[in-house]
Amino acid sequence: MELQINQRIQKYHPAVWRALTDLGKRIYLPKGIPLQARQASQCDINATIGQCTDDEGQPMPLPVMADKFKNVDPKDIFLYTPQGGRRDLREAWREHIYQDSSEETVEISLPVVSAGLTHGLSLAGELFVDEQTRVLLPQPRWDNYDLIFGVRGQGHIVDYNVMTDPDTTTKNPCRNVSFNSSGIIETLKEQSQHTRKLFLALNFPSNPVGYTPTQSEIDILVHGVQEIVADWKRRGTKHSLIILLDEAYHGMEWDSNSITSSLFFQLQHIDREYVVVCKVDGATKEMFFFGGRIGFISFATSKETQAAMEEKVIGLMRSTISALSSPSQIVLLKALQSPELYSQQEELRHVLQDRYEVLRETLQKSSLDYWPFNSAFFCLVHCPTDPQKKRLQLIEQGLGVVSIPRTPALRISYSTVPKEKIPNMVDILQRNLL
Ligand SMILES: Cc1ncc(COP(=O)(O)O)c(C=O)c1O
Repeated sequence: MELQINQRIQKYHPAVWRALTDLGKRIYLPKGIPLQARQASQCDINATIGQCTDDEGQPMPLPVMADKFKNVDPKDIFLYTPQGGRRDLREAWREHIYQDSSEETVEISLPVVSAGLTHGLSLAGELFVDEQTRVLLPQPRWDNYDLIFGVRGQGHIVDYNVMTDPDTTTKNPCRNVSFNSSGIIETLKEQSQHTRKLFLALNFPSNPVGYTPTQSEIDILVHGVQEIVADWKRRGTKHSLIILLDEAYHGMEWDSNSITSSLFFQLQHIDREYVVVCKVDGATKEMFFFGGRIGFISFATSKETQAAMEEKVIGLMRSTISALSSPSQIVLLKALQSPELYSQQEELRHVLQDRYEVLRETLQKSSLDYWPFNSAFFCLVHCPTDPQKKRLQLIEQGLGVVSIPRTPALRISYSTVPKEKIPNMVDILQRNLL
């Protein structure tokens, strides 16, 4: 069964084929119950699927539950949705992605819905990360990457520094660091000498740094990747490079200098003999729908292989969670169809932007050393003496932050701090860190 999609992938996107794990190669979507139920959906008697409908073919929810969803069609809540998510939602999300691009041709698979972004990342890991894979992860990074790609995927983890090294001869060494485009390229080059299978995770806007690069910083990165790939091609090597874009905080850029549209559009056409670009995004942060657990996973690939990639992902999901939450999907779909969505989203972003600006100004006036930040929800404050101890000390002062010992820093998530409380927060930090 998997033979056909594998042949397509081998023919039209060889890099994917070389990059797939054993599971990724084996997985497919059987023509099982969900498909057979869909094909029979117009039958007078549809005795296919294991869900319950009344004599009129309507859902038969428990009234105590139906009560909570009075304004929504019960079918959208109480019945299964198709494997990989509602098609209308997947199409609406693809439109949402397109809005961001001025490119003439966007070769993107139809986004498959995942149960939140973590699940989307995990699916990417199942497809592409195994013991033979060098997984280049940002340092500092969202700690769940280690579980997903290291503990679960058993990839060989290699750190790359997101920002350049602080210049310790200056007064506030961290304030002047910048995005480490060249360092990332160097790491990639170096690692490609040890293995043929590379997985580069990029996360902009980033957690925990709270930074999104400028276009000129991105140019260095993209150009560097192109050169590496061109070199592989010249030498006829069998490398494959998966570039994973974790765009959880897409749209949360507060400074006009940083890029605001997905890196996907700048990377999508890179040589498919060698490169796979996988985009994971979703509603969690972007649509302030944290509890909804809706993410999406899509690939830069040609028309011939898009369905094959979707099928691989849906096969993985079929064998783990099977179907996705219906209520969350309809909520997001209705939002995407609403003419008010973007103005409402803008209003909420303003709240965050205000907090960002107050925090930036207050920090600038303070004596604290902190990393440049311009996006997402976070800022890193340099903490040379045992961040873990400091964190506990701060809790006693009524301030909760996250410790990042390796950096060493404290992560301030200003997305949850009222603007009025920010000066006091910085004051507490100053009193305890200096
Ligand atoms: C960088 C990054 N990626 C992915 C996620 C996961 O998002 P979700 O809650 O949708 O699983 C987070 C959540 O904090 C994150 O910070």
